[in-house]
Amino acid sequence: MLRLLVMVSGGGTNLQAIMDAIKEGSIEDAKIVKVISNRKDAYALERAKNAGIETEVVSRKDFGSVEDFEEALLGAALEAKPDLIVLAGFLVVLPKKLVESFENRIINIHPSLIPSFCGKGFYGLKVHEEALKRGVRLTGATVHFVDSGCDSGPIILQKAVEVKETDTPEILQRRVMEQAEWKILPEAINLIAKGRVSVRNGRVTIAGG
Ligand code: GRF
Repeated sequence: MLRLLVMVSGGGTNLQAIMDAIKEGSIEDAKIVKVISNRKDAYALERAKNAGIETEVVSRKDFGSVEDFEEALLGAALEAKPDLIVLAGFLVVLPKKLVESFENRIINIHPSLIPSFCGKGFYGLKVHEEALKRGVRLTGATVHFVDSGCDSGPIILQKAVEVKETDTPEILQRRVMEQAEWKILPEAINLIAKGRVSVRNGRVTIAGG
């Protein structure tokens, strides 16, 4: 049984997609053991509590220094004894020690087809604003392993989504979430839970179905 720690900052729709997938069996052999948020008002926490999942808030505001905050975040994560850490809309840069302790065992969902529209400052609506500004015909979402960079780790899954002439950033964000994020994040977790994902020289291999 793969022990999942899910880290969130916002509405938790990706967390909900994972919870729903576990419930309906499209994710097998995995269990969310804890949800951590850096924001006490994150609705994702309500979703977790409603499902009886342990939650913890580690907020920068509660600590006198970045070091103390990062130490607390590291401690909260390690205490969960996760096999896999899932960043589902988590908007805090992970402590270096945490990334190093979980090489190729932390995944992130990013709302674009990496390497487009990613990196420092590219999160939330900004990603979709830039995609519309550039006039791309396709955008989408990417699930990737987290490394020491920003949105730069080995890519696991991607899913493309059509951009429409009439799209606003909000409409596009919603379509990317519905048609891509909420599908490939649970799918990636299921593949990892089944031991079908491996990484060599920075490239991901997914073993046969
Ligand atoms: C989503 O746009 C996701 O792509 C990004 O964070 C946003 C919030 O997601 N990673 P959620 O509703 O909190 O899962």
